[in-house]
Amino acid sequence: MTRETWKTQVGFILAAVGSAVGLGNVWRFPWMTANNGGSAFLLLYLCIIVLVGVPGLLGAFVIGRRSKRNPVGALRSLSGGSRLWGAFGLLAVCTTVLLVSFYTVVGGWFVRYTAASVTGGYFAQPGAYFGSVSYGLPAFGFALIFLAATAAIVYGGVERGIERATKVMMPAIVVLLVALIAWTFTRPGSMEGLTFFLSPDLAYLRTHFLDILPAAVGQAMFTLSVGTGTMITYASYLGEERSLPFDATTIAVLNTAVGVLAGLLVFPLLFSFGLDVGSGGPGAIFVSVASAFSTLGLVGRALGAVFFAVVLLAALSSSISMLEIPVAYLVDERDVSRGRATGIMTGIVVVGAAICALDASVFSLFADTLVNLLMPTGLAGFLLFVGWVLGKNALSEYEAGAGPLGRALGSPWLLFVGVPIPIFLLFTVISRLLTTLGVSVAPLSVLGVTVASSTAVLAAAVVLTAIAVLGLRRPDSVF
Ligand code: PHE
Repeated sequence: MTRETWKTQVGFILAAVGSAVGLGNVWRFPWMTANNGGSAFLLLYLCIIVLVGVPGLLGAFVIGRRSKRNPVGALRSLSGGSRLWGAFGLLAVCTTVLLVSFYTVVGGWFVRYTAASVTGGYFAQPGAYFGSVSYGLPAFGFALIFLAATAAIVYGGVERGIERATKVMMPAIVVLLVALIAWTFTRPGSMEGLTFFLSPDLAYLRTHFLDILPAAVGQAMFTLSVGTGTMITYASYLGEERSLPFDATTIAVLNTAVGVLAGLLVFPLLFSFGLDVGSGGPGAIFVSVASAFSTLGLVGRALGAVFFAVVLLAALSSSISMLEIPVAYLVDERDVSRGRATGIMTGIVVVGAAICALDASVFSLFADTLVNLLMPTGLAGFLLFVGWVLGKNALSEYEAGAGPLGRALGSPWLLFVGVPIPIFLLFTVISRLLTTLGVSVAPLSVLGVTVASSTAVLAAAVVLTAIAVLGLRRPDSVF
């Protein structure tokens, strides 16, 4: 069987943007920003997108296009058959299954809000409505509707399903967000929301840096769909030589723009309705826009339905890109037909979604803690692979199709993904792991010098990276 490839020139970029732009921008970004200090979070997040996200995307593209395989097959074949790398690829595949499980629940919330906009279901109590519908059996029921739509498109295959959805979604979402933002700014109190979101709070950033860092890194990985093998798989369907640096930059810019637009909508709305920014949690977007729509009567119903439906479209083009990974794995590596593979994986996700829909704390464990731990870990592994296993071969793959500027940045890129980025990612993962487990590293005293806990964590990240590098080094490595 010949492997599918993207049908049109823009097929790949459309699908990759479709994967990146989704609930991560519209739903998770406002939630994380609200919980982590507003503008301080935004600033850190933007830096991470540029310094880690774009180079990370490039790493994933290089692995995918070179191997033309799913993450497991890609890492295994490019490493000359290493079982260990195959297992690491499998970890990425499992991460996607976990992601799609909670994503389906959030998708279900959007399905419900679309319907409730038409009937005016949340109009009486826009604030309290989210709390009453977000978990439990009905939430699971709506999640199943969302999952069924995802599975149907994945079953249809790469070219037919995925490319089409994005062409409609991207312009629609931008137009709607801009229109809603314009309306929001006519409301009193909206400027305070703008200040919370945009005016740089360096003092907060300085004092809370280590608290918000793992959340900012996790959010950057999540929103760019990087660190789980989605972008590896999508780049594996690349037929011709596109400029990977150009594509990675375009995806990051478009994706970040949609996230920032969502923030420009949510925070002014929350402030203008006198709602508490921090208390909404994963409900921030629902509570804020539902409050807005409920003041607009029939127009609000129509606008609400269109808004939630468009976001649903964006969510679908992302959830497809999650479910596609385990399906591609079964098809490529286990010789299972696409139909059966989709069936098996959908069955597993039904169970995952049921667990995530149980209650708020289980949901947060998946959507917050595990995302912030697993995605940076995945990306750190991929990038160590790029720098030390692929090495110079990664560079020639990167250069194929790239323009003069892209080429000039090739060698610095390879160095950057080989050493500083893995250290940085491991540092955030270890910090987050320690906080999650409730372990606090007391300042240590080494040879009479007091070492702060963050320095000890950094030292651990450096040592881990050094061990990985020494173990992986081959003749082709960066150096
Ligand atoms: N980037 C997607 C979003 O923002 C989520 C996603 C994560 C998709 C990982 C695929 C893989 O909604």
